[in-house]
Amino acid sequence: MSASNLTLIHGGTVVTTTGAAPMDVLVDGETIASLHVPGGADAIVGPETRRIDATGCYVVPGGVDVHTHMRLPFGGTEASDDFTTGTVAAAWGGTTTIVDFAVQTTGQDVEEGLAAWHAKAEGKTAIDYGFHMIVGGVDDAALAAMDRLVASEGVTSFKLFTAYPGVFYSDDGQILRAMQKARDNGALIMMHAENGIAIDVLAAQAAGRGDTTPVWHGLTRPPILEGEATHRCIALAEVAGGTPLYFVHLSASQALGHVAAARDAGRNVFAETCPQYLYLTLEDQLGAVSADGDPFEGAKWVASPPLRTKHENHHADLWKGLRTDDLAVVSTDHCPFCFKDQKELGRGDFRKIPNGMGTVEHRMDLVHQGVVAGQISLERWVETCSTTPARMFGLYPKKGVIAPGSDADVVIYDPQRQHVLSKDTHHMNLDHSAWEGFAVTGGVKTVLSRGSVVLDDGTWTGRAGHGRFVPRGLSSYLR
Ligand code: URP
Ligand code: ZN
Ligand code: ZN
Ligand code: ZN
Repeated sequence: MSASNLTLIHGGTVVTTTGAAPMDVLVDGETIASLHVPGGADAIVGPETRRIDATGCYVVPGGVDVHTHMRLPFGGTEASDDFTTGTVAAAWGGTTTIVDFAVQTTGQDVEEGLAAWHAKAEGKTAIDYGFHMIVGGVDDAALAAMDRLVASEGVTSFKLFTAYPGVFYSDDGQILRAMQKARDNGALIMMHAENGIAIDVLAAQAAGRGDTTPVWHGLTRPPILEGEATHRCIALAEVAGGTPLYFVHLSASQALGHVAAARDAGRNVFAETCPQYLYLTLEDQLGAVSADGDPFEGAKWVASPPLRTKHENHHADLWKGLRTDDLAVVSTDHCPFCFKDQKELGRGDFRKIPNGMGTVEHRMDLVHQGVVAGQISLERWVETCSTTPARMFGLYPKKGVIAPGSDADVVIYDPQRQHVLSKDTHHMNLDHSAWEGFAVTGGVKTVLSRGSVVLDDGTWTGRAGHGRFVPRGLSSYLR
């Protein structure tokens, strides 16, 4: 240990999944060296050691956002954040690792799709990153490729869709086969569960009636169709021999009920939700009309699953799910499209609005509001935003924990800071914010990525190209 390679984060309260205590954290190069009672490292460090004062702040493991879509092609356009803008924005918000979705489209080689994602990301990210693989065409070749990705590419999770017929959709037979493959190779199957076949009928009927404004996106994707698809996937995984399942972007009480029942029955069934489903409603979208009375403003909140109505109990149920661990992770499903030129592709037909919102910068802050409001504990904030996503997706203990030997991905978080989310101050490449005007208590002060300070007191000191691809192991969260 050379003192000149050391950084001492002192004076803060280290928060882990099991508690919070005043501790000094000693970083040696890219990794955490040791934790000390306050002042306990003073004999080890020298005058040349960098010191970071965390007085009054939490010291937490850097956020792990396991659901992002940088540059995702969708609806004739491409998500507006690339791997530089998106990872810089993530770091501003205290996220130090993302797991993005590489895509195999029908007819394409899985490995070609993966190579294309490596090309988009390599040398461009400010923080570390991994990949899941979207399998858009389950066939013999794709199934064989799944084994190779698990064995030698560090890609150990695969997303399948019961939604988006003709794009990412898999039928039940394809889903069953992929689940059987995952049962054998240890991968985690991630499901986008909405009944896309029924949704497309409802959407076509709405459009045929002339109901074409953005809110019809939500009205034609009723929560029962998320519940139905969730239940179906749980059944298919049981038929496949108990393949572990992870539901992405869970939004509806009906879906959560099926997840909870499967978990109560002892199944390895897990789920994430996203901040938009914890805070925003269909009525927010409906009420968002521009100054000149244009209801197309609502396109900013078009994502799948859609925002749910405030007249049902979704928000309260999802917060409860976060407490019971029926929801284990909060990710963002960050998939931004600018209003101008991108969302506007669907003016006159909600079916053509590119699906997705931009939230990668705000996840740690937004979930922290659950701590402020007494919905979850401080420890649970760290668990759902950092530790469990790392464990769930084979990144632990490299990521997701402040412990000797772990990567020094550390966030110093000031619980007293007050700020308001806005497109004028965010760092995402996005010309609007789904969170405009949202007031936040708490804020990121300093961020270290593998020992490098990338953000300090509002000054960006990171660099595109610092981030590295992280090959992942198998999940360590299974029961
Ligand atoms: O609307 C969304 N969620 N867009 C991204 C693709 C997906 O389904 O996750
Ligand atoms: Zn000190
Ligand atoms: Zn999805
Ligand atoms: Zn997504």
